[in-house]
Amino acid sequence: MRESVTESPNRAAAPNLSAIEKVEQQVPGPREERPPVEGRSAAYDSDLLRAARREPVSRTPVWFMRQAGRALPEYRKVRAGIPMLESCMRPDLVTEITLQPVRRYGVDAAVFFSDIVLPLKAIGVDLEIKPDVGPVIANPVRDFAGLEQIRPLDPDADLWFVTEAVRQLVGELGPKPLIGFGGAPFTVASYLIEGGPSKNLEKTKAMMLGAPELFAALLDRLADLTAGFLRVQIEAGASVVQLFDSWVGALSPRDYQRYVMPHSAKVLAAVADLGVPRIHFGVGTGELLPLMAAAGADVVGVDWRVPLDEASRRIGPGYAVQGNLDPAVIFAPWPAIETRVREVLREGAQAPGHIFNLGHGVMPEMDPDTLARVVELVHEASAR
Ligand code: CP3
Repeated sequence: MRESVTESPNRAAAPNLSAIEKVEQQVPGPREERPPVEGRSAAYDSDLLRAARREPVSRTPVWFMRQAGRALPEYRKVRAGIPMLESCMRPDLVTEITLQPVRRYGVDAAVFFSDIVLPLKAIGVDLEIKPDVGPVIANPVRDFAGLEQIRPLDPDADLWFVTEAVRQLVGELGPKPLIGFGGAPFTVASYLIEGGPSKNLEKTKAMMLGAPELFAALLDRLADLTAGFLRVQIEAGASVVQLFDSWVGALSPRDYQRYVMPHSAKVLAAVADLGVPRIHFGVGTGELLPLMAAAGADVVGVDWRVPLDEASRRIGPGYAVQGNLDPAVIFAPWPAIETRVREVLREGAQAPGHIFNLGHGVMPEMDPDTLARVVELVHEASAR
């Protein structure tokens, strides 16, 4: 089946949240036309960057969130005995792990191997990533004194290993884009406040509503931290970045707009001058999509709950979309997978730009061969 680059239908239906216009006026330049950056990266003309800019592509680009990791035996082998965050601080290991899924799956981009909590570790916050659990914080932030753990980032001293790994990778990758990333202030704050992963984010919401000044001060510090992390990656050669707000779907649009969006907008605005596309992603964000776009994204990442044509309608024609195959579909028999992949491509073709991805990350139990087959199918079925 052939997917064509369809003229995106003129959608008069603007997002019906009048608040968005207000926010778009306040937020520095989410939709500004940026001047071309001097010394365009080797990846500038790749399909992934073209799709992000809503330009025609030769075929739909595809990568997988969390494509590096435990689904790959070669990852488990090189990581054996090395704690997660320590592995992120060894440039040679980071380079190898980042390249593994590119070799194995034939994806159109590498995603820098690191973690959303790595910058916290780099500035000295006492935390670890526990296997099968996630980030665990020794001294959760519960008051203003707790904020002092989050000191300003000194990129050269704190993140030299990121610069080195990104440089190595960009050299190896040539015209293939390297995606840098960071954690959005809300999602990172949720770990700091809860002390670890949490299902309902009770403490986070209690602080947001009960101590809004403390909450805002925390998110503001985290915005600067993530902005610094993203800038380091871009300046070292990452040609696109993704802001992960994985758990923000827990919020209503009103609370998102009031308590969280300004901080995410600060992060996205802080890298706008560098001229690389910014992808903004969260899980369960169907009701937040227009706001997440207006926060300063070029591409909005969509989970599997909203079809991409509908997602694109919700955010309007000025944005590309990324997604959104239900990760669980990878465990179904191949004919079911194939049907769903083609559906996602068809729906994605209704948006002005589409980057194929899962609706959330790769899981350790997934069969690498199936993921490789998905990449092949996306390329074949979308070839123009
Ligand atoms: O995508 C990639 O391949 C790049 C690497 C990457 C990692 N973490 C490596 C990692 C990325 C993009 C992340 C982002 C991240 N980290 C997010 C946002 C993405 C998402 O899934 O929503 C979040 C919420 C975190 C925090 C975090 N780190 C969690 C929840 C976990 C999982 C805990 C577990 O063991 O299941 C981690 C650990 C982690 N980060 C692993 C990897 C490969 C697994 C650690 C291991 O291999 O032992």
